[in-house]
Amino acid sequence: MKELLSPGWGWYVAILTLVSLAVCLWVLRANSVKKEHGGDPKLHGHNEWDGLREYDNPLPRWWSNLFYITVFFSLGYLILYPGLIVFPGLLNWSTDSLYKDEVKQAKAEFDPIFDAYAKQDVKTVAADKGALQIGGRLFQTYCVQCHGTDMRGSKGFPNLVDGDWLYPGTPEGIKQTIMEGRNGAMPPFGAAFKPEQITDVAQYVLSLSGRSTAADAAKRGEETFKTTCAACHGPEGKGNQALGAPNLTDNVWLYGGSLATVTETIAKGRQGQMPAHKDLLGEPRVHLLAAYVYAQSQEQAAAPKK
Ligand code: HEC
Ligand code: HEC
Repeated sequence: MKELLSPGWGWYVAILTLVSLAVCLWVLRANSVKKEHGGDPKLHGHNEWDGLREYDNPLPRWWSNLFYITVFFSLGYLILYPGLIVFPGLLNWSTDSLYKDEVKQAKAEFDPIFDAYAKQDVKTVAADKGALQIGGRLFQTYCVQCHGTDMRGSKGFPNLVDGDWLYPGTPEGIKQTIMEGRNGAMPPFGAAFKPEQITDVAQYVLSLSGRSTAADAAKRGEETFKTTCAACHGPEGKGNQALGAPNLTDNVWLYGGSLATVTETIAKGRQGQMPAHKDLLGEPRVHLLAAYVYAQSQEQAAAPKK
């Protein structure tokens, strides 16, 4: 609350509140004592109407006492809690500290569980049902926005359960991917190559998965591929997991396998980024996530294809 208001507003609220309370007290007090009038002390001099006379009695005690209690209650509240904005209250209570306490409690409760799993290797954890449940929940919180709730990814975001890996799909490889992040760096060739040269090499790329639509062009493209692309994608186009260079022969595409998309990839390059998670999540949680991804990929890659 304090962060949302400028200091001027804080003082405005504090002064208005305290002045209102003081006025309440004054009105109560003024109406709780007998006043001296000329004439009959019990009567207002003037108020008689139609046989009714207004007596000048103090307010009933029980009523004014209740009112005093409410005023002192609010004063006590404002001393203990941050109601006046400019004063944090003796208890130092805030929604912020409440939240931090909850986080602390949750850490105390869950950290030992995570730490126990972190001591086992990823493959062992991947066989533990309880660990996979926690890993699944972590995945649904931190990873689905890019890899999808079904882990099947989308254009530019790899499918994690198709058994096809850009980077090593071993338990350690997956853990490293999540810990440190990965940067795919496919350089753009639009400036270095003539447009025909790009189309030719794109046709050659399609031919690697048996889908070329122009055999001559593919043949011409082979030369360029061997001299320029093979350095990263390998002489046979089977990729290189150390660089994250995809296998171009398996007809599994990160960005798309149409002639137009492959041409675009070659001309403009691609820079897929998997963010590092070690600072955000800490190693024990990443360990569980790696086990979860590994287990899911094993299970789904083994399942018969639909
Ligand atoms: C901001 C989007 C984003 C988020 C969030 C994200 N990833 Fe990724 N991830 C990517 C991209 C993009 C790649 C591919 C990088 C490349 O193209 O080189 C990738 C790659 C991977 C790979 C390697 C896949 C392969 O084929 O080798 C794994 C494993 C992975 N992510 C797991 C995770 C997990 C687990 C989480 C949650 C902690 C996560 N990712 C969160 C975008 C994301
Ligand atoms: C410096 C290494 C490097 C060179 C050289 C290189 N590539 Fe790549 N290529 C990559 C990487 C890394 C990726 C993955 C990019 C990403 O993850 O965002 C990639 C991605 C691709 C893709 C996208 C595959 C998909 O699944 O969508 C195609 C197609 C491709 N490269 C073709 C080529 C061709 C053709 C050449 C030669 C003209 C070439 N590359 C040269 C590293 C390279």
